[in-house]
Amino acid sequence: MSTVPRSEQFDDVYFSVEDGLAETRHVFLAGNGLPDAWAGREQFTICETGFGTGLNFLAAWKLWRDCDAALRPQSLHFISFEKYPVTRDFIGEVLGGWDGDLEYERNVLIFKYPLDLSFGTHRIEIFSNVFLTLVFGDVNDALPKLEERVDCWFLDGFKPSSNPDMWSEILFKNMARLSAPEATFATFTSAGFVRRGLAAEGFEVRKIRGYGRKREMSVGRFRGALM
Ligand SMILES: C[S@@+](CC[C@H](N)C(=O)[O-])C[C@H]1O[C@@H](n2cnc3c(N)ncnc32)[C@H](O)[C@@H]1O
Repeated sequence: MSTVPRSEQFDDVYFSVEDGLAETRHVFLAGNGLPDAWAGREQFTICETGFGTGLNFLAAWKLWRDCDAALRPQSLHFISFEKYPVTRDFIGEVLGGWDGDLEYERNVLIFKYPLDLSFGTHRIEIFSNVFLTLVFGDVNDALPKLEERVDCWFLDGFKPSSNPDMWSEILFKNMARLSAPEATFATFTSAGFVRRGLAAEGFEVRKIRGYGRKREMSVGRFRGALM
Protein backbone atom coordinates (compact mmCIF):
# COMPACT_ATOMS: atom_id res chain seq x y z
CA MET A 1 0.00 0.00 0.00
CA SER A 2 1.28 3.52 -0.80
CA THR A 3 1.65 6.18 1.88
CA VAL A 4 -1.64 7.71 2.94
CA PRO A 5 -1.63 11.44 2.11
CA ARG A 6 -2.28 13.83 4.95
CA SER A 7 -3.45 17.45 5.01
CA GLU A 8 -1.54 19.47 7.59
CA GLN A 9 -4.00 22.32 7.08
CA PHE A 10 -6.98 20.18 8.14
CA ASP A 11 -5.03 17.82 10.40
CA ASP A 12 -6.62 14.82 8.71
CA VAL A 13 -5.84 12.03 6.25
CA TYR A 14 -7.37 11.73 2.76
CA PHE A 15 -8.50 8.17 3.46
CA SER A 16 -8.17 5.46 6.06
CA VAL A 17 -4.65 4.38 7.03
CA GLU A 18 -6.05 0.85 7.45
CA ASP A 19 -7.33 0.48 3.86
CA GLY A 20 -8.74 3.50 2.02
CA LEU A 21 -10.45 1.47 -0.70
CA ALA A 22 -12.16 -0.84 1.79
CA GLU A 23 -13.26 2.27 3.72
CA THR A 24 -14.70 3.84 0.55
CA ARG A 25 -16.60 0.66 -0.25
CA HIS A 26 -18.01 0.46 3.27
CA VAL A 27 -18.83 4.13 3.85
CA PHE A 28 -19.87 5.50 0.45
CA LEU A 29 -20.90 2.52 -1.67
CA ALA A 30 -22.52 0.20 0.87
CA GLY A 31 -23.60 3.24 2.93
CA ASN A 32 -25.69 4.41 -0.04
CA GLY A 33 -27.04 0.92 -0.76
CA LEU A 34 -25.06 0.56 -3.98
CA PRO A 35 -25.28 -1.31 -6.29
CA ASP A 36 -28.95 -2.17 -5.45
CA ALA A 37 -29.90 1.54 -5.36
CA TRP A 38 -29.07 2.05 -9.04
CA ALA A 39 -30.57 -1.19 -10.39
CA GLY A 40 -33.18 -0.52 -13.05
CA ARG A 41 -32.28 3.16 -13.41
CA GLU A 42 -31.58 4.66 -16.82
CA GLN A 43 -29.25 7.31 -15.46
CA PHE A 44 -27.75 7.76 -11.99
CA THR A 45 -26.07 10.85 -10.58
CA ILE A 46 -23.71 10.85 -7.62
CA CYS A 47 -22.54 14.11 -6.08
CA GLU A 48 -19.49 14.30 -3.83
CA THR A 49 -17.94 16.91 -1.58
CA GLY A 50 -14.13 16.70 -1.75
CA PHE A 51 -12.72 14.89 -4.80
CA GLY A 52 -9.20 14.70 -3.33
CA THR A 53 -7.37 11.88 -5.09
CA GLY A 54 -10.54 10.56 -6.76
CA LEU A 55 -10.59 7.28 -4.86
CA ASN A 56 -14.35 7.40 -4.29
CA PHE A 57 -15.01 8.12 -7.94
CA LEU A 58 -12.77 5.24 -9.03
CA ALA A 59 -14.46 2.81 -6.63
CA ALA A 60 -17.95 3.87 -7.82
CA TRP A 61 -17.00 3.60 -11.49
CA LYS A 62 -15.38 0.19 -10.88
CA LEU A 63 -18.54 -1.03 -9.15
CA TRP A 64 -20.56 0.16 -12.15
CA ARG A 65 -18.18 -1.62 -14.56
CA ASP A 66 -18.38 -4.85 -12.56
CA CYS A 67 -22.21 -4.84 -12.50
CA ASP A 68 -24.20 -6.85 -14.99
CA ALA A 69 -25.39 -4.41 -17.69
CA ALA A 70 -29.01 -5.31 -16.93
CA LEU A 71 -28.54 -4.35 -13.28
CA ARG A 72 -26.85 -0.99 -13.63
CA PRO A 73 -27.89 2.39 -14.99
CA GLN A 74 -27.10 2.97 -18.64
CA SER A 75 -25.19 6.06 -17.74
CA LEU A 76 -23.36 7.19 -14.64
CA HIS A 77 -22.68 10.83 -13.84
CA PHE A 78 -20.30 11.66 -10.99
CA ILE A 79 -20.07 15.28 -9.89
CA SER A 80 -17.41 16.30 -7.40
CA PHE A 81 -16.23 19.57 -5.81
CA GLU A 82 -12.66 20.23 -4.79
CA LYS A 83 -11.24 23.42 -3.25
CA TYR A 84 -7.59 22.30 -3.16
CA PRO A 85 -7.05 20.21 -6.31
CA VAL A 86 -4.11 17.83 -6.33
CA THR A 87 -2.03 17.11 -9.44
CA ARG A 88 -2.30 14.03 -11.64
CA ASP A 89 1.20 13.02 -10.51
CA PHE A 90 0.03 13.08 -6.92
CA ILE A 91 -2.93 10.83 -7.80
CA GLY A 92 -0.60 8.40 -9.55
CA GLU A 93 1.69 8.32 -6.54
CA VAL A 94 -0.86 7.79 -3.79
CA LEU A 95 -3.32 5.46 -5.54
CA GLY A 96 -0.66 3.01 -6.72
CA GLY A 97 -1.39 0.72 -3.78
CA TRP A 98 -4.52 -0.72 -5.42
CA ASP A 99 -3.01 -1.59 -8.76
CA GLY A 100 -4.38 -5.12 -8.59
CA ASP A 101 -7.87 -3.67 -8.24
CA LEU A 102 -8.22 -0.12 -9.60
CA GLU A 103 -5.27 0.11 -11.98
CA TYR A 104 -7.30 0.52 -15.18
CA GLU A 105 -9.61 3.14 -13.69
CA ARG A 106 -6.74 5.04 -12.08
CA ASN A 107 -4.81 5.19 -15.35
CA VAL A 108 -7.83 6.50 -17.28
CA LEU A 109 -8.43 9.14 -14.61
CA ILE A 110 -4.80 10.26 -14.66
CA PHE A 111 -4.92 10.53 -18.44
CA LYS A 112 -8.12 12.59 -18.44
CA TYR A 113 -7.56 14.64 -15.25
CA PRO A 114 -7.22 18.41 -15.88
CA LEU A 115 -3.76 19.95 -16.07
CA ASP A 116 -5.28 23.35 -15.32
CA LEU A 117 -6.06 23.38 -11.59
CA SER A 118 -7.53 26.88 -11.46
CA PHE A 119 -11.12 27.26 -10.20
CA GLY A 120 -13.77 26.28 -12.75
CA THR A 121 -15.76 23.33 -14.09
CA HIS A 122 -14.32 20.44 -16.09
CA ARG A 123 -16.73 18.12 -17.87
CA ILE A 124 -14.87 14.91 -18.57
CA GLU A 125 -16.18 12.08 -20.70
CA ILE A 126 -14.54 9.10 -19.05
CA PHE A 127 -16.36 6.75 -21.40
CA SER A 128 -19.32 7.17 -23.73
CA ASN A 129 -21.67 6.48 -20.79
CA VAL A 130 -19.59 7.54 -17.77
CA PHE A 131 -19.19 11.26 -17.08
CA LEU A 132 -17.17 13.08 -14.45
CA THR A 133 -17.92 16.73 -13.69
CA LEU A 134 -15.09 18.12 -11.61
CA VAL A 135 -15.73 21.51 -10.08
CA PHE A 136 -12.60 23.13 -8.68
CA GLY A 137 -13.69 25.67 -6.08
CA ASP A 138 -15.34 25.86 -2.67
CA VAL A 139 -18.40 23.62 -2.54
CA ASN A 140 -20.28 26.35 -0.66
CA ASP A 141 -19.79 28.75 -3.57
CA ALA A 142 -20.26 26.25 -6.39
CA LEU A 143 -23.06 23.95 -5.20
CA PRO A 144 -25.72 26.72 -5.19
CA LYS A 145 -25.01 27.15 -8.94
CA LEU A 146 -25.49 23.47 -9.76
CA GLU A 147 -28.63 22.43 -11.61
CA GLU A 148 -28.79 18.61 -11.59
CA ARG A 149 -31.02 15.94 -10.06
CA VAL A 150 -28.84 14.08 -7.57
CA ASP A 151 -29.62 10.46 -6.63
CA CYS A 152 -26.87 9.89 -4.16
CA TRP A 153 -24.48 11.99 -2.03
CA PHE A 154 -20.96 11.11 -0.93
CA LEU A 155 -20.23 13.53 1.93
CA ASP A 156 -16.47 13.42 2.22
CA GLY A 157 -14.35 16.47 3.05
CA PHE A 158 -12.17 16.44 6.10
CA LYS A 159 -13.60 15.85 9.54
CA PRO A 160 -16.14 18.46 10.66
CA SER A 161 -14.11 19.41 13.75
CA SER A 162 -11.18 20.58 11.58
CA ASN A 163 -13.18 21.72 8.53
CA PRO A 164 -16.43 23.11 10.00
CA ASP A 165 -16.87 25.67 7.18
CA MET A 166 -17.51 22.96 4.61
CA TRP A 167 -20.29 21.28 6.59
CA SER A 168 -22.53 24.30 6.32
CA GLU A 169 -26.19 25.17 6.13
CA ILE A 170 -25.52 26.14 2.48
CA LEU A 171 -24.43 22.55 1.81
CA PHE A 172 -27.44 20.97 3.53
CA LYS A 173 -29.98 23.36 1.95
CA ASN A 174 -28.58 22.78 -1.53
CA MET A 175 -28.58 19.03 -1.00
CA ALA A 176 -32.31 19.28 -0.32
CA ARG A 177 -32.79 21.54 -3.38
CA LEU A 178 -31.03 19.10 -5.71
CA SER A 179 -32.05 15.72 -4.25
CA ALA A 180 -34.27 13.42 -6.25
CA PRO A 181 -37.09 11.87 -4.20
CA GLU A 182 -35.57 9.23 -1.90
CA ALA A 183 -32.01 10.33 -2.73
CA THR A 184 -29.54 8.81 -0.27
CA PHE A 185 -26.42 10.13 1.45
CA ALA A 186 -23.55 8.55 3.32
CA THR A 187 -20.71 10.05 5.29
CA PHE A 188 -17.92 8.84 7.57
CA THR A 189 -18.90 11.31 10.28
CA SER A 190 -21.54 11.08 12.97
CA ALA A 191 -21.01 14.66 14.21
CA GLY A 192 -24.18 15.95 15.84
CA PHE A 193 -24.35 19.29 14.00
CA VAL A 194 -24.08 17.48 10.64
CA ARG A 195 -26.88 15.05 11.51
CA ARG A 196 -29.08 17.89 12.81
CA GLY A 197 -28.32 20.06 9.76
CA LEU A 198 -29.38 17.28 7.38
CA ALA A 199 -32.47 16.40 9.42
CA ALA A 200 -33.56 20.07 9.39
CA GLU A 201 -33.57 19.97 5.57
CA GLY A 202 -35.76 16.87 5.31
CA PHE A 203 -33.26 14.00 5.45
CA GLU A 204 -33.95 10.97 7.56
CA VAL A 205 -30.63 10.33 9.31
CA ARG A 206 -29.37 7.06 10.83
CA LYS A 207 -26.16 6.11 12.59
CA ILE A 208 -24.55 2.84 11.55
CA ARG A 209 -21.25 1.09 12.25
CA GLY A 210 -18.28 2.96 10.75
CA TYR A 211 -15.29 1.48 8.96
CA GLY A 212 -12.47 -0.13 10.94
CA ARG A 213 -11.96 1.54 14.26
CA LYS A 214 -14.66 4.16 13.66
CA ARG A 215 -17.60 3.23 15.82
CA GLU A 216 -20.23 5.25 13.95
CA MET A 217 -20.98 6.91 10.63
CA SER A 218 -24.17 8.43 9.19
CA VAL A 219 -26.43 7.44 6.32
CA GLY A 220 -29.88 8.55 5.28
CA ARG A 221 -32.49 9.33 2.72
CA PHE A 222 -34.26 12.47 1.49
CA ARG A 223 -37.89 12.44 2.59
CA GLY A 224 -38.78 15.79 1.05
CA ALA A 225 -38.44 19.33 2.26
CA LEU A 226 -39.96 20.06 5.66
CA MET A 227 -42.57 22.81 5.78
C1 LIG B 1 -10.85 13.46 2.97
S1 LIG B 1 -10.31 14.33 1.56
C2 LIG B 1 -11.01 13.55 0.17
C3 LIG B 1 -10.79 12.17 0.02
C4 LIG B 1 -11.14 11.68 -1.31
N1 LIG B 1 -12.31 10.94 -1.28
C5 LIG B 1 -9.97 10.93 -1.88
O1 LIG B 1 -10.18 9.87 -2.38
O2 LIG B 1 -8.87 11.43 -1.85
C6 LIG B 1 -11.37 15.75 1.63
C7 LIG B 1 -11.27 16.64 0.43
O3 LIG B 1 -12.21 17.71 0.58
C8 LIG B 1 -11.62 18.88 0.08
N2 LIG B 1 -12.29 20.05 0.66
C9 LIG B 1 -12.19 20.51 1.92
N3 LIG B 1 -12.98 21.59 2.09
C10 LIG B 1 -13.60 21.82 0.90
C11 LIG B 1 -14.52 22.80 0.44
N4 LIG B 1 -14.97 23.76 1.23
N5 LIG B 1 -14.95 22.73 -0.86
C12 LIG B 1 -14.50 21.74 -1.68
N6 LIG B 1 -13.60 20.80 -1.29
C13 LIG B 1 -13.16 20.83 -0.03
C14 LIG B 1 -10.16 18.75 0.50
O4 LIG B 1 -9.30 19.57 -0.24
C15 LIG B 1 -9.90 17.26 0.29
O5 LIG B 1 -9.39 17.00 -0.98
